[in-house]
Amino acid sequence: MTKASVYRVKEGLSSTTDQEYQFPVNYSYDYLNGCTSYLMLPSLNLNDHLQSKRFLRMGTLDNRDIINRSDHAIDIHPIRAGLPWTSGIQTCRQNKYWRLTIDTTRFFLEHFVADESAQQIFKSGLSISQIARKELLENLDEGWVKYPVYLFPESDRERTRLLAAINVFIFVFDEFWEMHDIDSFTSVHAEFVSRMTSGITSSDEPKSTLQSLIDQAILDIRKTDFVSGNTAGQEMIDMMVRFFSRPPPPTEYKDMEEFLLYRHEDAAVPYVLSCTKFALNSSVDIDSPRLARYIRLLKDQVSVANDLGSWEKEKQAYLLGKTLYLINAVDVIKDLFKLQTDQAAVAMTQAFQLQIETEIDIELERLIAEDALTSEEWRFIDATLHVMSGSVFAAIIMSRYGGERCRLT
Ligand code: FPP
Ligand code: MG
Repeated sequence: MTKASVYRVKEGLSSTTDQEYQFPVNYSYDYLNGCTSYLMLPSLNLNDHLQSKRFLRMGTLDNRDIINRSDHAIDIHPIRAGLPWTSGIQTCRQNKYWRLTIDTTRFFLEHFVADESAQQIFKSGLSISQIARKELLENLDEGWVKYPVYLFPESDRERTRLLAAINVFIFVFDEFWEMHDIDSFTSVHAEFVSRMTSGITSSDEPKSTLQSLIDQAILDIRKTDFVSGNTAGQEMIDMMVRFFSRPPPPTEYKDMEEFLLYRHEDAAVPYVLSCTKFALNSSVDIDSPRLARYIRLLKDQVSVANDLGSWEKEKQAYLLGKTLYLINAVDVIKDLFKLQTDQAAVAMTQAFQLQIETEIDIELERLIAEDALTSEEWRFIDATLHVMSGSVFAAIIMSRYGGERCRLT
């Protein structure tokens, strides 16, 4: 394979007409580093269905009607672009309003830096303000700002802005959570998270610009529900609060199942699903029993795929004492199988991810044959397949995990 370069990636990523919307890709992280060269990516039927938009025709009265994906995103082809691709799901989508996502992120981070209570909340590690400052000083455009652009690509401008805002809360507070004990997190709850829970009254007048900006973002999210008549916005707020209320991890896991159930919450997958629903402006019931098996497999895939991409970064941070916990499937597999090397554990974990993706394909074929889902449920499935490929894509092309050595020239 020809080596990836900024030029080759740009040319290969999207169609000529879509290139003007491309969020530039400047990094390429080969996190498997050849240790799984004996593994082949599975050939999944779902790729054909994504390409032919079959899922978008399912559940309708006349299933020849094509319901298109939104005009707010473009198709992305990571394999054609020469990126070191690690998933059986071959295509992604990218939101067109990535500049708005960057601007909104920068705006909120600047307010976190300036905020007095954010400066005061810290114990051993960095304060909330220092975490925000670090993000601003580092290469913001190449970091976690990319997540909503590839995970929730279908959103219109206003929903994109709101997704960017709450993504800042998720990443800033999560970084703090990883560095501090649960008691220290209580202040984050009191100052900020409590403002996001329902039932806030006028006696909780904002005492800083940041607090009023948070109040306004929450209000604007609720306003989208009011206009659309669904509850996608409120569910997203509730899932964000649930994420900030999760317990610390157990000291060890008796099996992979116990780890995965903890990690689903720790990787904020219920929140990610509610953001997908919000981006689609959908009224789908995410907890529908008809979708349960698919959603369970999706949660496993997102958790395990992120653990592979972020393994080296997380292991280093833990060994250097920068984080309190190492919550990663590679570490769990190494421990459960008593493997000798990290390399063996990474390879086994990658095989596990491909196994999960194969089961997703089987479940989708079963759902197609059964033909019992609504068109809203199928539209949600179509979008969540891009959540899985989008999270892999972001892990490969961010500087967050691979660092400067992965910069393309
Ligand atoms: C973080 O996990 C990222 C993912 C699991 C990918 C998709 C999720 C989001 C974009 C929203 C949730 C974000 C967080 C921070 C949980 P992680 O906690 O292992 O963080 P890292 O791998 O980026 O360090
Ligand atoms: Mg991770």
